[in-house]
Amino acid sequence: MSVDIGLGVDGISVRDQFLTPAQVRALTDCAHLRRERGDFHTARIGGHQNLQRREDIRGDSTCWIVPPLLPAEQTLCEELERLRLELNAQAWLGLFELEMHYARYPPGAGYARHVDQPQGHGQRQVSLVLYLNEGWTPAAGGELRIFDADGGHRDIEPMAGRLVCFLTPGREHAVRSTQRDRLSISGWFRARD
Ligand code: OGA
Ligand code: MN
Repeated sequence: MSVDIGLGVDGISVRDQFLTPAQVRALTDCAHLRRERGDFHTARIGGHQNLQRREDIRGDSTCWIVPPLLPAEQTLCEELERLRLELNAQAWLGLFELEMHYARYPPGAGYARHVDQPQGHGQRQVSLVLYLNEGWTPAAGGELRIFDADGGHRDIEPMAGRLVCFLTPGREHAVRSTQRDRLSISGWFRARD
């Protein structure tokens, strides 16, 4: 794995094969194991006192990747730590720590247009999404849609091994309705409070 991943002029980067097929499978197994343990919960929106379940806005279930980490998760953390240092060196972003969770969208689910800085998460500076969907086809939908300031957008398919990074502040994006189970890891590099 290489960490040469500039965020480009538009602050978005898409890198294929960030994960090897073996890593994709190992992380998928980790997600299933955590799911069997009952660690996935339906995602809620809003912050702090104001959390609510709104499947029309957000239909995924999530599981925070927190210690004790499984071996494939530990490896991923080490690779993302190298990415963090690389991004700091390239862009002086002052990235300090990483938070991440699995997200599973059942058929019919999506995530309406939003930014990744709900109340209390203002320190999120870079958003990451890693996809674990082997054999994804365009007919399955479920694209990540990233909007730009002049009304356009870009759609990115959630192919296995692909890493998408973008600068978090103000960047609106959505997950289009998926036709099949869609598994990913969402993460954020945060700056110090
Ligand atoms: C998120 C998110 C995008 C994706 O988890 O906040 O926007 O493609 N995910 O899964
Ligand atoms: Mn998001």
